[in-house]
Amino acid sequence: MVTVREFGVTKDGRTVSCYRIPAGAACLEVLDYGCTVHRLEVPDRDGKMTDVCLGYDTVGEYEANDGYLGAVIGRHGNRICRGRFTLNGTAYRLNCNDGENHLHGGAKGFDKYIWQAEILEDGVLFSRCSEDGEEGYPGNLHVQVEYRFTRDYQWILEYRAESDRDTVINMTNHCYFNLNGSGSGDVKGHMLRLNAGAFTENGPGCLPNGRILPVEHTVFDFRGGKMLGRDLELDEEQLRVVGGYDHNFVLEQTAAADKELPEEAGALWSGKSGICMKIYTTQPGIQVYTANVLTDRPGKDGAQYHPHDGVCLETQYFPNSMECPEFPSIVLKKGEKYRQATIYEFGVTGAI
Ligand code: BGC
Repeated sequence: MVTVREFGVTKDGRTVSCYRIPAGAACLEVLDYGCTVHRLEVPDRDGKMTDVCLGYDTVGEYEANDGYLGAVIGRHGNRICRGRFTLNGTAYRLNCNDGENHLHGGAKGFDKYIWQAEILEDGVLFSRCSEDGEEGYPGNLHVQVEYRFTRDYQWILEYRAESDRDTVINMTNHCYFNLNGSGSGDVKGHMLRLNAGAFTENGPGCLPNGRILPVEHTVFDFRGGKMLGRDLELDEEQLRVVGGYDHNFVLEQTAAADKELPEEAGALWSGKSGICMKIYTTQPGIQVYTANVLTDRPGKDGAQYHPHDGVCLETQYFPNSMECPEFPSIVLKKGEKYRQATIYEFGVTGAI
């Protein structure tokens, strides 16, 4: 049964609640503040419960959260160059919060709101209305984020939205995974496998420049499974300028984007804990971000976090799509239904 407790109070005096979704002895804990994943406990190979996501102990730390730990991201995940785009002949200017660019929905993105919550049998349904003009985006957008956590350790995320004017949308979740447990050190020894034959090259400012390049013979080839740390510190231009991986991978399923059922995108595995996380999504891309700018800071339960102590695997449309016409479109027409679904499935295996 899903239970709820008071988690804390925001600077402006609003109560933040924490919902605990159990699955046997495992659980997913989420806050109504930013639909933030606070705790995700799954068994390791010895059956020991391991909290595989990074987070904080207090609302104040989540409010100051420059790393978006565990939060939902919207309206638009990742960067839009100079926060500018043109839709139906009208030029829009979004709030720029990453130097001259727009990042993760702006200064007050979806991660910084308290959402309405409805308890489901094995999950929570969050909803809010993002008003016309919020952070510069057109259209009143009704958004729902549904998290469920099942008996077979599937964390199922579904995002739904509808706008009363044409707009753009690209939602994701910014969970930092560490399959050895939050605060256990870096994830360089984790194996990552991706069903991605190409990636989008970054130009200045960590913005895709429109070029889609094959991963073959590059440090971006995770098709056969590769340790995250193997090439991380190589003197390779694309990695060096952002301090590790911070790139959008083009999933093999791009041609079938918008389909209803999530398809396998890849898996993350730790040989130390034996925990494996398979990823399924309806989305055409996945941002692999190796927590390069997760500056040293205190985390949950007395942990200390450092760069590379987690990895975000953000299922999404490609960043900066409005400037790159060859990328799949992020336009949501008035009255059309937006839906994205992603599943992170946990288990224990001997390899990936
Ligand atoms: C982005 C990084 C950014 C980080 C913020 C990631 O999704 O790709 O460039 O620094 O979020 O925590």
